[in-house]
Amino acid sequence: MHSLHKSTTGHSLINFLLLFSSFCALYVLTSVLLLVLGTSSSLLNLHSSSNNVLIEPSTTTTTLDHLVFGIASSGSSWPKRKEYIKLWWNRTTMRGCVFVDDDVNIGPLKAEEKEKNGEDDDYSLPPICVSEDTSRFRYTHHGGTRSAIRVARVVKETVALLNHSGVRWFVFGDDDTVFFPENLRKTLSKYDHRLWYYIGANSESYKQNWFFGFGMGYGGAGFAISSSLAKVLAKVLDSCIQRYPHLYGSDSRVYSCITELGVGLTHEPGFHQVDFRGNAFGLLAAHPVTPLLSLHHPDYIDPIFPNTTAIKALQYLFEAVNVDSLRILQQAVCYDRRFSWTISVSWGYAVQVFHNHLSLPDVLKVQQTFKHWTKGTTMADLYSFNTREFHPDPCRRPTIFYMDNLSHDKDGIIISTYKKSFQNCSSNVASPNGPPEVIKVATTKLVLDTKQLQAPRRQCCDVLPSSVPDMMDIAIRECKEDELIYMH
Ligand SMILES: *[C@@H]1O[C@H](CO)[C@@H](O)[C@H](O)[C@H]1NC(C)=O
Ligand SMILES: *[C@@H]1O[C@H](CO)[C@@H](O)[C@H](O)[C@H]1NC(C)=O
Ligand SMILES: *[C@@H]1O[C@H](CO)[C@@H](O)[C@H](O)[C@H]1NC(C)=O
Ligand SMILES: *[C@@H]1O[C@H](CO)[C@@H](O)[C@H](O)[C@H]1NC(C)=O
Ligand SMILES: *[C@@H]1O[C@H](CO)[C@@H](O)[C@H](O)[C@H]1NC(C)=O
Repeated sequence: MHSLHKSTTGHSLINFLLLFSSFCALYVLTSVLLLVLGTSSSLLNLHSSSNNVLIEPSTTTTTLDHLVFGIASSGSSWPKRKEYIKLWWNRTTMRGCVFVDDDVNIGPLKAEEKEKNGEDDDYSLPPICVSEDTSRFRYTHHGGTRSAIRVARVVKETVALLNHSGVRWFVFGDDDTVFFPENLRKTLSKYDHRLWYYIGANSESYKQNWFFGFGMGYGGAGFAISSSLAKVLAKVLDSCIQRYPHLYGSDSRVYSCITELGVGLTHEPGFHQVDFRGNAFGLLAAHPVTPLLSLHHPDYIDPIFPNTTAIKALQYLFEAVNVDSLRILQQAVCYDRRFSWTISVSWGYAVQVFHNHLSLPDVLKVQQTFKHWTKGTTMADLYSFNTREFHPDPCRRPTIFYMDNLSHDKDGIIISTYKKSFQNCSSNVASPNGPPEVIKVATTKLVLDTKQLQAPRRQCCDVLPSSVPDMMDIAIRECKEDELIYMH
C-alpha cells in the first residue's frame, strides 16, 4: 500500500515494462502489457491527484503546526483535567480540539464567550468540540462504557475538522495525558508522514498487554497517526467499528481498524501509559534513551516531586522541560571511585546515589517503587521491562536528590541542582562519608539531529572535584568514541 504513494516506483516499473515490450515479438503479449500499463498509470494518476492536496514534501522541518491533536475528554472530567492540558498546550502554535460528550455545560459557545470576555484562562486551552452522536453503534462489553465508541471516533472527527492543509501527524490522547510537544515534534520528524505510520507504546503492565494486545498503541499514553494513514482510516472507521461492539476501550477499536488496514504499531518508548499506582519514581529515574513524549494517569500516581500536589509537581518538571526539553529525564550514570558510589542522574528530575558499585545494566533496571494497576494478583506484578526491588529498608535504598533549582548562563551552560530528600535512615546521617546535601549538574542543551534520534547513544558523566563541602559537582557530556560506562 505504501508504495502506491510513491509515483517514482510506478514510473520505473513503466520504463522497465516499455523496454521489455520493445524486445517482445509476440503481439499478444504486447497488447496484454499495454493493458496493464493503461490500468496501472491511471491508478497512479488517481492517487497522486488526491494526495497532492494533503501531503507536502517532508524535506522541510516538521513544526508544531504540522501536528493536530485530538484530545478525548468529557463534560464531567474536563473542569478538573484541563489543568493538565494547560501544562503543555499553546494555542498560538498548536492545532486540535478537545472532544466532549454533548450533555454538558461547557459547549463551544460558552468557551468562546469566556475567551472573548477574558473571564477565564481558557484561552490557553484548545477549543472544545462536541462529539457526534454514537447511538447507532452497538456496544456490548459488560465491564466498560459506551463512551469508548465516542472516543474511538475522535480519530475520525479530528481528521474531518480540518482541510488537512499542511497536517503531517494526528496525535491522540486523553485529557489526563501530559504531552511533551517539542519532543513529540522532534520524534515524529524522523518518520516520513507520507507513509502509513501508527506510532505509540504498550502498557507497563504485562497483564494489560497480554489482555489488550502487545501491538496496540495505548490511548492514554497517546499515539500518532501519519496524515496519509489517518485520511484512509477516517474513511473506513465507522464501518469497521461496527465489527467490534464487544471490545472494551477506544484504543482497542482504533487498533483493530488499523490492523484491518494491514498496518502494525511502530513502537516509541517515550510514550507512557503509566498503568501502575503510587510512586512513579522508579520509572521516571530510569527512562530509556529516547525523548520523553507523554505521561498519563497523574491522578493515579503520587505527585512526582515530594511534598506537593500533582499539578504543582508537573509544573515544576515543565520548568526544566522549558529549558531543555529533549534532555528531560535522560539518565546518565557515573561512578565515584573514592567511596565506591554509583550516581545516576535523571536530568531535570532527580539524582540517586547508590552506596555501592552497580554495573550499568543493573542501574538501568526500573526500581519497583510503584504498586500494580490491575485487580487480582495473577500476573499483576509483571511488567513489560526489567525491574529491581526497591528495598523495604530505607537504609539500603539509594539516597535521592530531587531537582531544586535550574539556571543557565551566557555560555549556554545549564546548571541544575538537586537537594537531598528526607531519608528515614539514621545510620546514613551519622556516617562521616555520607552523601552530600546538594548535587550540582552541569550540561549544555541537548541537540539531537535525525541520525542521533534514529540511533541514540547515552551520554557520559564525570564527578568533578568540588570545593564546597556537602556539594557534589557533576558534568554530563557526550561519551568518547570507545568510552565505556563502568567503575574505573
Ligand atoms: C506560545 O508560543 C509562542 C510562540 O512560540 C510564545 O511566544 C508564547 O510565549 C507561548 N505561550 C505560552 C503560554 O507558552
Ligand atoms: C475547508 O475548505 C473549504 C473549501 O475550500 C472552505 O470553504 C473552508 O472554509 C475550509 N475550512 C477550514 C477549516 O479551513
Ligand atoms: C512541605 O511543604 C510545606 C509547605 O510548603 C512546608 O511547610 C513543609 O516544611 C514541607 N515539608 C517538608 C518535609 O519538606
Ligand atoms: C537558583 O539559582 C540562581 C542562579 O544560580 C540563584 O540566583 C538562586 O538564588 C537559586 N535559587 C534557589 C532557590 O536556590
Ligand atoms: C519516613 O517516616 C515517616 C514516619 O514514619 C513516614 O511518614 C515517611 O513516609 C517516611 N519517608 C520515607 C521517604 O520513607
